[in-house]
Amino acid sequence: MGKKNLISITDFSQEEILKIMELAARFEADPHRQVLAGKVIASLFFEPSTRTRLSFESAINHLGGRVIGFSETANTSVSKGETFHDTIMVISNYCDLIVMRHSIEGAARYASEISKVPVVNAGDGANQHPSQTLLDLYSIQKTQGTLDGLHIAMVGDLKYGRTVHSLLQAMSFFNPTFTFVAPDELKMPDEYKLFLDEKGIPYTETRNMEEAIDSADIVYMTRVQRERFSDPMEYERVKNVYVLRNSMLERTKPNMRILHPLPRVGEIDPDVDRNPKAYYFQQTENGVYTRMAIISYLLGVAE
Ligand code: CP
Repeated sequence: MGKKNLISITDFSQEEILKIMELAARFEADPHRQVLAGKVIASLFFEPSTRTRLSFESAINHLGGRVIGFSETANTSVSKGETFHDTIMVISNYCDLIVMRHSIEGAARYASEISKVPVVNAGDGANQHPSQTLLDLYSIQKTQGTLDGLHIAMVGDLKYGRTVHSLLQAMSFFNPTFTFVAPDELKMPDEYKLFLDEKGIPYTETRNMEEAIDSADIVYMTRVQRERFSDPMEYERVKNVYVLRNSMLERTKPNMRILHPLPRVGEIDPDVDRNPKAYYFQQTENGVYTRMAIISYLLGVAE
């Protein structure tokens, strides 16, 4: 079998997604199996990250693997003008798998075409963030007991938020209903709505967040992505349009849980943190187990 990459969530079948869920649960039950002993993983972050980079590195360390890489390019030969092509060609000689984040959409796909070893996309511009999606699915399954037939309300920056794009595609296997809550400037792009139309998956768009969250099983909050705006004034206009507060949760369903890929920058008031429906910090822990599952699966060492 050739090498398997994870660049877009659409690279995985429904069966493979469910396999990752099963493996993540097994790693959560026993996070110290040394299945990556003797493996070297390159962690290449051309763009900032806290959770993704450190949860991948934590996952690798727990499973006995070694990590090489960088969290910024200033101290690499990229700063001397080395091309992205050459950087990936060289590093793929040094490791068994590459985890990479880049600001340019398509960078991870390009890397996977020239790398000798599997590549995991840890976020490429506003495009995809598939490992986040798998941890989101794992969090949804843990909190709801199923992935099937759920109502997901997505709130905030649905235009630039790559996590909602990947999540929408992955949930399409599981009979979801979506409500999209966004200002006009940040609405869900047409290509994703077309994707849902083609699959016959129902969705509605609204500006009324409180109405949308009352019937939701999952409220997926997102940060307005300042770094993707070319016009700072446009960012200022939309950055605080939707702020979730504890007082808004009274009429929500008992099983409802709030997810957020984090970081948050004001769209969830800290008074929500003490509400049992807030799940975003547990969600970050699920990232470690899910990333253990992804790497082990791609390297063919999952048991
Ligand atoms: N959720 C997420 O991608 O967070 P980081 O940007 O901190 O990795």
